[in-house]
Amino acid sequence: MMIIDSIEGMQELARQARQDGKTIALVPTMGYLHEGHASLLREGRNRADVLVTSIFVNPTQFGPNEDYQSYPRSLERDCAVADASGVDVVFAPGPSAMYPAGYQTYVDVEQLTLPLCGAARPGHFRGVTTVVAKLFNIVKPHVALFGKKDFQQLTVIRRMVADLNMDIAIVGMPIVREADGLALSSRNAYLSPEERSRALCLSRALAAVGALFTEGERSVAVLRTKALDVINEAAGIIDYVDFRHRESLEAVAAADENTLVALAVRIGSTRLIDNRILGEE
Ligand code: PAJ
Repeated sequence: MMIIDSIEGMQELARQARQDGKTIALVPTMGYLHEGHASLLREGRNRADVLVTSIFVNPTQFGPNEDYQSYPRSLERDCAVADASGVDVVFAPGPSAMYPAGYQTYVDVEQLTLPLCGAARPGHFRGVTTVVAKLFNIVKPHVALFGKKDFQQLTVIRRMVADLNMDIAIVGMPIVREADGLALSSRNAYLSPEERSRALCLSRALAAVGALFTEGERSVAVLRTKALDVINEAAGIIDYVDFRHRESLEAVAAADENTLVALAVRIGSTRLIDNRILGEE
């Protein structure tokens, strides 16, 4: 496995691979890799000749009062996970290489970034789409893999790729959870043992809403109240509990099997997200 930190080095490798007729898969990450990331890497390994993962804590997707500085970082550990998952190249550039002095170009997807995390984190998706577009230009992948854990992110990236005619297949991968239901996240590292158990309220709220839906409940007001009850019981601070169409991300009043239930909840000072599509699982 190679570790590359220069943009030119990565571009040269990608150019050569393409010239040799090889296909390239990219899994973009911010590092602190866990089993959720590893599931994307293993699928990427199956889908191309050369598997690249990028590790870059992207400053432009963090708000001024967010956790850019404290975001967990461990390149050495990440390289071990990447190696064990069949990665050929870890691309780990520094922030000043990605955003040199004078940088002023951004990619903005409009309507899809207005609700949910876009409303809660102004400018977040502009940072995500910008860095992902840059990574696509540097790594030149044929296929890129993203997790449904960040469902809105996946939707926004699919839109960017379609709108800007990027010739890249986007693969969405299922959410990987701990045995007790907690969705894996690099930010779980912030949780104290007591918070870790309260954090289960996200997956429990989604399960409770799913069970009511299966019993025939279709009223978003009723389903939402159920989710709020579960989260409040664990003293989670609700950022949003939202019911939206899985493709348009428009709000719905009545739930159906295309409804995305998306949650963002703070447990102590840690903001966690989770989601499910009603009618799946
Ligand atoms: P990061 O949070 O490191 O996540 C990298 C990829 O792993 C994303 O596609 C995310 O959806 C996926 N992922 C995270 N937890 C997962 C889980 N429990 N199950 C399945 N997939 C999971 O998302 C980002 O980084 C950044 O925004 C990035 C796209 C790299 C741009 O900076």
